[in-house]
This record gives sequence, structure tokens and C-alpha cells, in this order.
Amino acid sequence: MEQGKKVIFSGIQPTGKITIGNYLGSLKNWIGMQEEFDCIFCVVDMHSITVTQVPSELRKNTFDLLALYMACGLSPEKSILFVQSHVPAHAELTWVLNTIAYVGEMNRMTQFKDKSRKHADNINMGLMDYPVLMASDILLYQADLVPVGVDQKQHVELARNLAQRFNSRYSPTFVVPDCYIPPVAAKITSLQDPTAKMSKSDPNENAVVTMFDDKDAITRKFKRAVTDSDTEIRFDREKKPGVSNLLSIYCGFTGVTEKAAEEEFAGKGYGELKARVAESVIAALEPIQREQKRLAADKAYLEAVLKTGAEKAERIANRTLEKVYRKVGFIPRAR
Ligand code: TYM
Repeated sequence: MEQGKKVIFSGIQPTGKITIGNYLGSLKNWIGMQEEFDCIFCVVDMHSITVTQVPSELRKNTFDLLALYMACGLSPEKSILFVQSHVPAHAELTWVLNTIAYVGEMNRMTQFKDKSRKHADNINMGLMDYPVLMASDILLYQADLVPVGVDQKQHVELARNLAQRFNSRYSPTFVVPDCYIPPVAAKITSLQDPTAKMSKSDPNENAVVTMFDDKDAITRKFKRAVTDSDTEIRFDREKKPGVSNLLSIYCGFTGVTEKAAEEEFAGKGYGELKARVAESVIAALEPIQREQKRLAADKAYLEAVLKTGAEKAERIANRTLEKVYRKVGFIPRAR
């Protein structure tokens, strides 16, 4: 880590198939940050088990997600890439932060309320505590900036609050992180219900385009995407959420501005819009998928990347944890 450079931390859960929403809202924006900042990107497997997982699938998804990170352009030479459960400090700091997080504020977390509704048979303590674990992820590395999609903003705000609370209760310890929300495509919505977030866990396959979908699936899903009854192609998230979502996806994958996209599609029909969006997604995903497959087949290499990543991450994380333990009054273990 270089002195004076800003620190970036972010992560994705290895749960199910990563969607183009995850990619546009987070992963894609991380790539360029590697040149400018000290970047730490984590596969957050401990978050995943807050909903029931099949262990063998979680293992596979973890390697697949690391391979996807690298296939999209994250480099283990430039960034620290690691798996959350390899660095025990994440769980350890969570315990301490739990003692300054109030049950009332945790109860108010929108995602906790949503997930409690969706998983009514498994409202476990981990589900409620999930934002505190996320705060630990961020604060352990003294991150300045956390690039995420809109749905994670409230959690980053909690991390800020906990950092400030700890700093004022004890003494300055944590950097108070800022949230970075991308200017385009920060909330990609479901292709079937354009008022809801596109989500990995959506049981309706047609609602979600994953990073692993083939050409035919992508074309089919966009063809079936819900639009609206008039015919005009323009951004209007209130009145035309479906069309706006398709335009956002197009802008996200091509780099075209919203204004330019509106001009490009002026006077065209929804059929053409859907076909062109699908083409832009296919063109962007094909090379990523090829590289992901190649990397995922080389398990020894992925394991080596994770080993180095965990060692580097642990060094930074333990430094913060030691400070925290000292401040709260834990006596140091004799060495
Ligand atoms: P997760 O795994 O649900 O999502 C990973 C990232 O993808 C973004 N995202 C979206 N962006 C735009 N449109 C969508 N439809 C969409 N769906 C998801 C999310 O905002 C997120 O940035 N708790 C986090 C992971 C996490 C984390 C962290 C992130 C754990 N610790 C520390 C940052 C810092 C989560 O479950 O994201």
C-alpha cells in the first residue's frame, strides 16, 4: 500500500449467478480504479451463508466469482483479491462493532426487511447482522471509498455511522468511508418487473441476465423484456421504467451517454431497441466469458492468487484489529 493513495474496498457475494446488474453497478467500475487507488476486492462468502446455501455450490461459486473478477480486468498484481473467510479479522471486528450497533438501527435496514420477507422461515441473527459484517469489511482496511450499486448505500452509511461512533467513544481509529455510486446503471431493474431491482436470487429466469448467459438466452430475455404501451424511446424512470432500464443497460455496456442513446434510438421501435441492447451485452460478455472459463479451469492458479491476497489483506486487517482491541481495553496476548 502506498502512502497518500486513497483506499478502495468492495465485494460481491458468491451467491447464485452474478447478474449484469452486479457488473454494471459495481465490478465494471472497479477496473479503472486500480490505476489510481489502492484497491482491495473481496469475495464475501461469509455474507452468503446468511441465506441457506448448498456448500458445494458455494465453493464453486467462490472460485467462479474470483475468475470473473479477473476476467473482467481485476489484476492480482494491481489489487488485493481475496476471500472474506480467509481473514478471521472480519468476524472478530464484527463482534466488537456489534456492541456499538443498536438493534433499532439494524431493524430499520431495508435489505434486512426485504430478505426477512423473502426468507420468512430463516430470519437468522446473521441476516440482521450482515450490515455490521459489511462495515467490518470496509473499516478494517481504512477504506476511503466504497464503490457499490444504489441498493448498498444504506449499508455504507451504517459503516460511516459505526466508524464515527467508535471514533468518538474511544478515539480516532477508523477512516470514515464515502460511498461511490456510478453515474449510470447504479440500479439495473428486473426485465419482468422494471420497478424492482434485478437480483441474483430472482426465481424468474427471464427477469435476470447473468454474466454467464449465452447469446441465445440473452437475446430471448431481452425480447421478452417488459416495456410499456406507447412507442417512444426516452429516459423517464417514473413513466417508462422498462424502456429506461434497457437504455441504461445499453449505456452501461457501450459507454454511450444517456443523451446520445436517446438520439440514436429516436423514432425507432421497441423491437430494434431490444435487439440492439442484446447485441451490446453479447459483444461485451463474450470475451469476459471466454476468459472466465479459462481461469476457472486453472484452480491451482486461483488458489495461489487467493493465498497471496489473504496474506496481504490479513496484514492490513490485523493492524486495525489490534488497534481496536487495545482501545476497547483488551489486554494484548503475550508473544
Ligand atoms: P451483492 O453481492 O448483493 O451485490 C454486489 C454489488 O452489485 C451491486 N448490485 C447492483 N447494481 C446495480 N443494479 C443492480 N440490479 C444491482 N444488484 C446488485 C450491489 O450494489 C453491490 O455493489 N453486501 C454486499 C457485498 C459486500 C460489500 C462489502 C460491498 C459485503 N461487504 C463491503 C462493499 C463493501 C452485497 O451483498 O452485494
